[in-house]
Amino acid sequence: MTKEKIEKLISQLTLQEKVGMIHGDGFFTTKGVERLGIPPFKTSDGPRGVRKDFENDTWKEIGLNCDDVSYLPCNAALAATWNRALAYSTGKLLGKEARGRGKDMILAPGINIMRTPLCGRNFEYMGEDPYLVSEMVVPIVQGIEENDVSACVKHFAVNNQETRRLDVNVEVSERALREIYLPGFEAAVRRGKVKGIMGAYNKLRGRHCCHHEYLLNEILRKEWGFAGIMVSDWGGVHDTREALMNGIDMEMSVTNDFDAYFMADPLIGMIENGAVDRKTALAKIDEKVRHILNVMNRLHMLDGERSAGGYNDYNDKAALRQTARESVVLLKNDKELLPLDKRKMKRLLVVGENANRKHAPGGGSAEIKALYEITPLMGIQMLLGGNTEVVYKPGYFNEDIGNIWANTGDSENGQVDSLNQSGGMTQATPELEIKETHQMEMNEKYLQEALEAAQDADAVIFVGGLTHDYDTEGQDRTDMKLPYDQDRLIAELLKVRPDTVVTLVAGSPVDMSAWIEDVNALVFSWYAGMEGGIALAEVLFGEFNPSGHLPETFPVSEKDCPAVVLGEFPGEDNVNYGEDIYVGYRYYDTYDVETAFPFGYGLSYTDFVMTGIRAEVIEDTAESKEVKVRFDLSNIGDRAGAAVAQIYVADKRPKVRKAAKELKAFEKIYLEAGETREVTLMLEREAFTYYDEASHSFKVDAGSYMLLLAKNAEEIADITEIEFAV
Ligand code: BGC
Repeated sequence: MTKEKIEKLISQLTLQEKVGMIHGDGFFTTKGVERLGIPPFKTSDGPRGVRKDFENDTWKEIGLNCDDVSYLPCNAALAATWNRALAYSTGKLLGKEARGRGKDMILAPGINIMRTPLCGRNFEYMGEDPYLVSEMVVPIVQGIEENDVSACVKHFAVNNQETRRLDVNVEVSERALREIYLPGFEAAVRRGKVKGIMGAYNKLRGRHCCHHEYLLNEILRKEWGFAGIMVSDWGGVHDTREALMNGIDMEMSVTNDFDAYFMADPLIGMIENGAVDRKTALAKIDEKVRHILNVMNRLHMLDGERSAGGYNDYNDKAALRQTARESVVLLKNDKELLPLDKRKMKRLLVVGENANRKHAPGGGSAEIKALYEITPLMGIQMLLGGNTEVVYKPGYFNEDIGNIWANTGDSENGQVDSLNQSGGMTQATPELEIKETHQMEMNEKYLQEALEAAQDADAVIFVGGLTHDYDTEGQDRTDMKLPYDQDRLIAELLKVRPDTVVTLVAGSPVDMSAWIEDVNALVFSWYAGMEGGIALAEVLFGEFNPSGHLPETFPVSEKDCPAVVLGEFPGEDNVNYGEDIYVGYRYYDTYDVETAFPFGYGLSYTDFVMTGIRAEVIEDTAESKEVKVRFDLSNIGDRAGAAVAQIYVADKRPKVRKAAKELKAFEKIYLEAGETREVTLMLEREAFTYYDEASHSFKVDAGSYMLLLAKNAEEIADITEIEFAV
C-alpha cells in the first residue's frame, strides 16, 4: 500500500475509530476498523516462545490444548552462545510460531542491561555489555520479522530492577545512558529496523518512560528515526496529555476498563472540553495511527499477502538443540573429569531437584506452555540408554509452592497483583513462606539419602541452581546465595565424592564461594529451552564440546557489584546510577575487583591458542574510522570445537575517564582438531568513541589505542596498538 493510500485511510477514520486503534481493547489486542479493512492489532508475550492465550478481558487462560509452543532458550542463554546465527534462527522460529498463532507483534526480545546480578528478569535479557547486546539483538529481530510479524524490543529504557518497578526513578548520567543503556535499542532500530519498541515501567529523571519526551520524541523518533509502533508496557501509562504528546502509539494495560485507559475516553474528553489544542491533538493522534498503519502495511496486514507462519518442525528442533548446546558454559574442569565416559557408566547418581524440574511455566510474562521440556535427568537417561542405572535423589527439598507470579495477591493473576503492589515486590523469598522446620527436616533427610547413594555410584552429577521462584518478573533477589541449603549439600557431596560434577541451571549468577575451591568440574546451563536437558547431557558426556561464554560477570558475591557497593540497588524512590559507565566488567576490570568468573569466560574440552594480532588503520578521518584486525587462531587439542575470540579496545591516554577496556568485536569460530586459521575482523568508528556530554555526540580522540585479543575479560592473549592522527 502506498503512502498516499495510508493517508487516505487516515482521512476516512473518525476520531473514535482512531482512538480505538491506539489503546487496548483486550489485554493483548486493539480495535480494528472493519468498514475500512483495518484489522485489530494482536500482540503476545514473549521472549521464550509465544505465550498461552488468555480470554480477551479476563486473565483467565483459554485453556485449550492448542497453544503449546516451542520453548526457546531464555535470552541470557542465547547471549551465552555468542553466536549471531543462533540469535537469528531463534528469532525466526519465534516469529514463525507467533505468526502461526495469528499474532501481529511478539513482545520480545528483552534487552535491558544486567546492571546487577540480582534483577529478577535478568534471565530475559542479554547480558551486561552493550556491544554484545547490540550484536545479538539485530539478528533476533531480523529473524522474528521475516514472518510478517513485528518484534517488540523491551523495555525502553533503564528498566534494570523489579523492585518498585512501576514508580522507581532512575537518575543516570547522559554518558552512561548513551554508552551503556541505549546502544542495544539503537542497534535494533537503526540496524535491525525493528517495527516495535516497548516502553519501560520505571521513571527516568522524574518522568515515566512510557511517555517520556526526551526518550521517545527526541532520541527514539528524531535521532534514530523510528517510525514503527511504540507500545507502552502493560499499565505503564500514567498521563493522557504526556501520552498524547510524547512518542507513544499504543497504550496497553492489565485491567479490563479499556475505555477508561488514558489514551481512550479521557483523551477524547480532553479534546472535547478544550483541555488540549484540538488541531495539535488531532495531528498527534494521526501520527500514532500512521505509525500503526505503516507497520500493518509492512506486515502485509492490509493487502492480504501475508505469511501464515507455522509451527515447530524437525529443523526447528535441531536449531533449538544447537542453541541450547552452545549456551552451556564450562566453568571448571581442573582434573579433566569431564567429559564423562558413557561406556564406564554402570550406575550413575544424579542429585538435585533441578535435574527433575521443568522451568517453562514460570518466570512471569515469559512463562511458556511448552510442547515438551527435556529435563536434565531425562536428557541424561536419553543419552545413556538402558544399560546404565540412573539413580535420582533430590538432595534438597524444594516444596513446590507453585508459581509465585500466580500467588502474589488477591486477583486471579499475578500480572495484575504485581502491579497493584506498585510493580515489583521487594524481594520476597519464597523459601521463608515454607515452614522452616519442615524444610530443614526434609533437607536433612534428602541430604543423607544423596550422600549414601553417592558412595557406590560410578559418577555423581549434581544439578541444582535457581528456579523461577527466584529468576522472575516482579521480584529481585536479595543476594546471590543458592536457595534450599544447596551450599551445604554440594560441600558434603564433594567431601564424599570429590569427583562430583556440579551443574547449575539458573538465569543469573550465584555465589559459589562456599565450595568453589573444592569442585573440579563445574558447568553452568541456563533455562535453555525444551532441548536444554539433552544439550546439557551431551556436554557432560562429550558428545558436544562446550562453547558457551558468560554474557555477564559472575562476581564472587553481590556485595562486589558496584550498584550494591554504592547502596544504589534496589534503592527507594530514587536510584542513582552512581557507578556511571562502570557496569559489569567495566567496573571489575578498571577497579581491579576479583571476580568468580569474568565476562566472556568459558572453557572447552580442547585448547585454543590466539596469537599474532596485527592491525592496520585503513581509514582515519574525523567522521570515519576503519581498522582491519587480523590474528591467528589454532585448536591445539585433539577435539574439534568452537572458540570465541574477543577484541577489546583500550585508550592509552584517555582524555576523559574510561573503562580499562571495552568489548568491540568478537567472533565464534569452529576449528577442527589441529586446525589453524587466520581471522580478520573490522573495527569501525563506534569501536573508539565515547559520549561527550558537552557536544552531545559520540567522539573519538586522536591518539593511541591498544587492541587486546582475549579469551575473556581477564585473559588477554595478545596485544597490538594503533594510532589515529585525527
Ligand atoms: C511486562 C512485559 C510484558 C507485558 C505483557 C508486563 O508486565 O513487563 O514485559 O510484555 O507485561 O504481558
